[in-house]
Amino acid sequence: MENKKIIEVKEELEQSLNDIKNIQELNDLKVKFLGKKGLITELNSEIKNIPNEEKKEFGMKVNELRNTFNNFYEEKRKSFEEKILNEKLEKESIDITLPATKVVSGAPNILEKLVEEVEEIFISMGYDVVDGPEIELDKYNFEMLNIPKGHPARDAQDTFYIEGEEILLRSQTSPVQVRTMLEGKGEKPIRMICPGKTYRRDDDDATHSHQFMQIEGLVVDKNISMSDLKGTMDVLFKKLFGEDTETRFHPSYYQFTEPSVEVDITCHKCHGKGCNICKNNGWITVVGAGIVHPNVLRMSGYDPKEWTGFAFGFGADRLAMEKYDIHDLRAIYSTDLRETSTFDRKESE
Ligand code: DAH
Repeated sequence: MENKKIIEVKEELEQSLNDIKNIQELNDLKVKFLGKKGLITELNSEIKNIPNEEKKEFGMKVNELRNTFNNFYEEKRKSFEEKILNEKLEKESIDITLPATKVVSGAPNILEKLVEEVEEIFISMGYDVVDGPEIELDKYNFEMLNIPKGHPARDAQDTFYIEGEEILLRSQTSPVQVRTMLEGKGEKPIRMICPGKTYRRDDDDATHSHQFMQIEGLVVDKNISMSDLKGTMDVLFKKLFGEDTETRFHPSYYQFTEPSVEVDITCHKCHGKGCNICKNNGWITVVGAGIVHPNVLRMSGYDPKEWTGFAFGFGADRLAMEKYDIHDLRAIYSTDLRETSTFDRKESE
C-alpha cells in the first residue's frame, strides 16, 4: 500500500523532470517535491504509520527519491545558470573592430583662456590680480576718475543706473584703480590688473554687447614713466601674439590719464602688410592707456609730487576676437558645441 504511494511519486517525479524549461520551473518543482508540503516530504512524514518491519525499506526508498531529485536539481541548475551566463556574454560582447562613437567635446571658453593668459603674463611681471564689484558707485566709476557730474565724457559710456544717480553697473573696470589706491592709503606702491565684466547700454550686435569684459591695469610707484608703459605693452603683446609683434602709441584723450595714448599692435595676420583684419592699415588699436592724471592720484590719497603711475584698459572680448579670428562677439558667449569646438581648432591651426 505504502509502496504504491512511493511508486506514484516516483512516476510523477520522472514525468515532471522532463518538462522543466527554466530555472523558475526548476525551483517550483523543488517546492512541489521537497517543500514543507512537498510530495517527498509528505512521504517522509508517513514513516511513523508504516509497520516496523517495513520501515527500513520504506525509508530507503524515500531517501532514494530525494537523492534522485537532488542530483537532478543540481545538474539542471548548473546547466540553466550556464545558459543564462552564455546568453549574457553573447549580448554584451564588444566588437572591437567597429568604429568608435565620436565624442563631441567643447573647448575651454576662449575669453576665459585669454584672460588666464593675460593674468599669467602679468603675474610673471609681479602684478597682483584684483577684483572689484560690478555694482559700483558713481563716485568710483566717474568722479574720482576725474569725470565730474555733468561732464560730457560720461555720455560716451551709456551707463546703466540702478538707483538714482549714485549706484550703477560699472561701465568700465577703471573704478578698481580708485579702490586699489584707496586701499594703498597713499603709501603702498601698486602693480595690479583687474579683469572683469562691464556694462553699457549698447544694442547687442556682432561687435557690441551690453555686457563685455575689460582688463584694467594700474602701476603706481616712484619715477614711473611712459617708457615703462611701452615696455609693459611690448611684453604683453609679444607674449600674446608672438615675438614679432610690435607696439606703437598714438595720442588720445581720457580724463583719468595725462598724457593719454592708444596702443596699436601690428596685425597678427598680415604682420603689418595690410589685410582685411586691419583694414589694410597694418596696425590695430587694442588698448587705451596713459600716465595717471595727478588729480586722480590726489583724490585717492597718493601725492602726485611723490608718486607717478601708468594705467591701461582694454576689451578682453575684442582681443579674444582678434586672437582667435572670430567675427561675431556673441559667439564668445555661445554654449553651442558646434560653435565652441571650432575655437579650439582655430588655435591649433
Ligand atoms: N576705461 C577706458 C574705457 O573703458 C579704457 C581705459 C583707457 C582705461 C585709459 C585706462 C586708461 O586705465 O588709462 O574706454
